[in-house]
Amino acid sequence: MKVLMNDEIINRSEAKVDIEDRGYQFGDGVYEVVNIYEGIPFTLKEHIARLYRSSMEIGIQLTEQPEQLCNRLLELIKANSMTNGGLYLQISRGVSNRTHHYDQTLTPQFVAYPLPYKSVLDAQTNGVEAITAEDLRWLRCDIKSLNLLYNIMVKQKASEAGAFESILIRDGIVTEGSSSNIFIVKDGILQTHPANNLILNGITRTKLLEIMNKNGWKYKLEPFYKEDLMEADEVFLTSTTSEVMPIIKIDGITFSQAKPGPFTRKFQTAFREAVKSETKSTTEKA
Ligand code: PDD
Repeated sequence: MKVLMNDEIINRSEAKVDIEDRGYQFGDGVYEVVNIYEGIPFTLKEHIARLYRSSMEIGIQLTEQPEQLCNRLLELIKANSMTNGGLYLQISRGVSNRTHHYDQTLTPQFVAYPLPYKSVLDAQTNGVEAITAEDLRWLRCDIKSLNLLYNIMVKQKASEAGAFESILIRDGIVTEGSSSNIFIVKDGILQTHPANNLILNGITRTKLLEIMNKNGWKYKLEPFYKEDLMEADEVFLTSTTSEVMPIIKIDGITFSQAKPGPFTRKFQTAFREAVKSETKSTTEKA
């Protein structure tokens, strides 16, 4: 496997991380996950824009232009002859003696590498189970931080319960999933938490809302309660790796006919069409 380390594409075996890298010690950094369809990274510009925003929010100054980084990532995809799968990208603040405070002059460390393709088709067709958990994360969930300790704790809880995702509840309100955004459909209207400091503004979420706007489909960006979740007609989650994923059971309670509902199906289809047309138009431009 070839990896991009700072500005160089090298073999994975040659890639080295210093034991005093702040990403390694403190989780002091930010990351992204991008999906690759037929060799084309989907919504790459949007992911890179979010990476730069997250970096800026934690005071990491990036000197490279986003376009230059995009070009290097395209080279990485080629170097690995990737067709389907993903890219993981990470920026840490840099290497220094272990102190909590940091020197502004540290050189950020960048790494990107391919993630293998994992089919989610069966899960998308049949729907998945979720559990609910208290949202005990910090109040800057809009930053895609490397600090995922609580997210992994509740994902593990879901996994041990045989579920796909943990749906997080803060003060009775459904915020998002441990690694996804959560949507409900009630009486034909889609609803999801507004993009603020309590959730990560997902690229898949944004893309779906764009599709909703284009089609004139109704939605509300308003917080909703756990009771609304449990009484919804349909529930689904979105993320880069899951796309539009129906949820058919929450905390052991099955929804309607225990199968993905008609609105969720419609959004899945529309999302796949958007992926197809965007990756096709990128190929044509290349
Ligand atoms: N997770 N909320 C959280 C907390 C997330 O970690 C993610 C993504 C999302 C969905 O964002 P997007 O649609 O941009 O993927 C929402 C990624 C996939 C991960 O950590 O692997």
